[in-house]
Amino acid sequence: MSENKRKILVTHALPYANGSLHLGHMVEHVQGDIWVRFQRLCGHDVHLVCAEDAHGTPIMIKAKNEGVTPEQLIEAVAVEHRQDFADFDISFDNYYTTHSDENRYFAEQIFNRLNDKGYIDRRTIMQAYDAREKMFLPDRFIKGQCPNCKTEDQYGDSCENCGATYSPTDLINPRSVLSGEPPIEKESEHYFFKLAEFGEFLQNWISDSKRVQKQASNKLNEWFEAGLQDWDISRDAPYFGFKIPGTEDKFFYVWLDAPIGYMASFKNYCDKNDLDFNEYWHPDSSTELYHIIGKDILYFHALFWPAMLHGSGYRTPTAIFAHGFLTVNGEKMSKSRGTFIRARTYLDHFDADYIRYYYAAKLNSQIEDIDLNLDDFVQRVNADLVGKLVNIASRCAGFIKKRFNNRLAGTLEDQQLFEQIVDAKAQITDYYENRHYSRLIRKIMSLADLANQYIDEKQPWVLAKDLEKENELHLICTQGINLFRIIMMYLTPVLPGLAQRSEQFLNTQIVANDSWKNIDQPLLNHELATYVHLLKRIDSAQVEKMLQAEMAYQPETKKENSVSEQPSTISTDDFAKIDLRVALIIEANHVEGADKLLQLTLDLGDEKRNVFSGIKSAYRPEDLVGKYAVVVANLAPRKMRFGVSEGMVLSAGPGGSDLWLISPDSGAKPGMQVS
Ligand code: MSP
Ligand code: ZN
Repeated sequence: MSENKRKILVTHALPYANGSLHLGHMVEHVQGDIWVRFQRLCGHDVHLVCAEDAHGTPIMIKAKNEGVTPEQLIEAVAVEHRQDFADFDISFDNYYTTHSDENRYFAEQIFNRLNDKGYIDRRTIMQAYDAREKMFLPDRFIKGQCPNCKTEDQYGDSCENCGATYSPTDLINPRSVLSGEPPIEKESEHYFFKLAEFGEFLQNWISDSKRVQKQASNKLNEWFEAGLQDWDISRDAPYFGFKIPGTEDKFFYVWLDAPIGYMASFKNYCDKNDLDFNEYWHPDSSTELYHIIGKDILYFHALFWPAMLHGSGYRTPTAIFAHGFLTVNGEKMSKSRGTFIRARTYLDHFDADYIRYYYAAKLNSQIEDIDLNLDDFVQRVNADLVGKLVNIASRCAGFIKKRFNNRLAGTLEDQQLFEQIVDAKAQITDYYENRHYSRLIRKIMSLADLANQYIDEKQPWVLAKDLEKENELHLICTQGINLFRIIMMYLTPVLPGLAQRSEQFLNTQIVANDSWKNIDQPLLNHELATYVHLLKRIDSAQVEKMLQAEMAYQPETKKENSVSEQPSTISTDDFAKIDLRVALIIEANHVEGADKLLQLTLDLGDEKRNVFSGIKSAYRPEDLVGKYAVVVANLAPRKMRFGVSEGMVLSAGPGGSDLWLISPDSGAKPGMQVS
């Protein structure tokens, strides 16, 4: 291994230091962390760095609105981000900030070098200006009517309604978001990076098929064809960022110093750990450099960044791994639709491992969006992780403890099966290396199926009843534990938490750097620690709770969804749309696994309905049978975990035990319309 020990530097995109991380961000961090953990297991030297992206107008304005300094804001956000990353088991070697001395040093150095080589231009441009706030306005700080579809309240760069893109001066009735005043046009001198001069270099650079994925190079070619534009890298004061050398009131645009933040974070790490920064950033470096980013920031990473690096005498990235966006239940993440989930809200309800696994099962090496379907999430985690993976260990561990004092036998029962699972390592290694995570997960789960089939066939629970089969029982359970060990080792990059607990149970190293080379060494004559349950099942009630917690957290969402925002009257016609009927409850039952619901069978005269109703806290099933109820009969059937609910029973009261079923006198007949 040591002669082909690779030296690798990996970065994740730097999150903006003005808001919480959400589950979309975590797609990137989980996928990068899995790759890095895999490289560590293989014994390579790999460093994972990231930082807060701390500069720019939005951060400056947000700090101002909160009555704090930008430094205070970014510090507070950094504390939150760091905790989220730690709890998601993202194994950064260094997490820094772009608002640092190192970053200022490199930003100035790179700018000066580019300037010396004639790659920087100065030009006077007209720009929108807020005369009251005395500040130039970024496109997003100007709103007005879309020139295309005439929708009100659209940003200065694009319309959320029709998708048109335009410049702020095209808006009808433009207003500064800060003062509400119409912006004026004002001259200002700006600094431009002459990207166009790097056209040939860049085309060459991406022609190496390993640099960017196919989809990305297609996109880049479109940009080449459209012609590369010089890039405005300066912003006028007031701005939160680094002053451009030799100026008094010009600052580097946040996107200039953001990628330089990768270098700064690594430099900071090198200084603390006695590593050679130059070895990694020298133009002839033999080390590898990878940036993991979302598809929305490809332009910055595949055009500006390599050009800046090349122009200033640094190495360029080995490759850029771009990924798609996360949708939740098939929709774009949105606060008003309740599909926006903060990383912290997730962590308050679930272990990181569950979603790490789910993302891995869905990710591939392409730039494709992935969907977090919350029902599928629950189902998949339970079926695969609890039902298949952990099941292998739990089916064998009890016998090993009770009958053999936690000691494994001295031989394997089925050497061939053991080898079959060991031999999958080459394929699995290839899937990890090339980021084919969904194939990887399918492959590993097929190995778990083999292990479970083995146990099903050997039926240790039957052997356990026959004292003469003691030896066989021992061998079979030893075999099972050994299969579990290998399969778990294959998954350690994906499931660091579970891997840690498995390591304790197996009483042998499975997560340490360079431990993959030991995969083929069976555990024999080895003492296990006593098995404690490794992973809990999850249920959709927890998902429901998580979504509710998020709603409660989002003040805007609450407003949009709250009843008081709805019109306070409805027309008679609207009311007539609701088909209310008298129903007789002919059956009522508890629902297994549901702590709030009862299952009711309703007689509606000419038909029977199955309804799940959240009245368990107030009624015992046996007290409901024979009662009359009022049911909304034309409600769209709702698919629930327990079955389909075909209507809704009306009740009154705040909830809990204070809940009363609306029950007509028994003179009413089932099926009668309530009007
Ligand atoms: N600060 C810049 C990056 C600078 S890198 C030198 C930025 N920050 S961000 O917070 O908006 O996004 C950080 C990363 O998260 C980006 O790679 C972005 O693509 C990714 N994602 C943000 N929302 C996402 C989803 N909904 N789904 C997947 N990734 C998403 O851009
Ligand atoms: Zn429009």
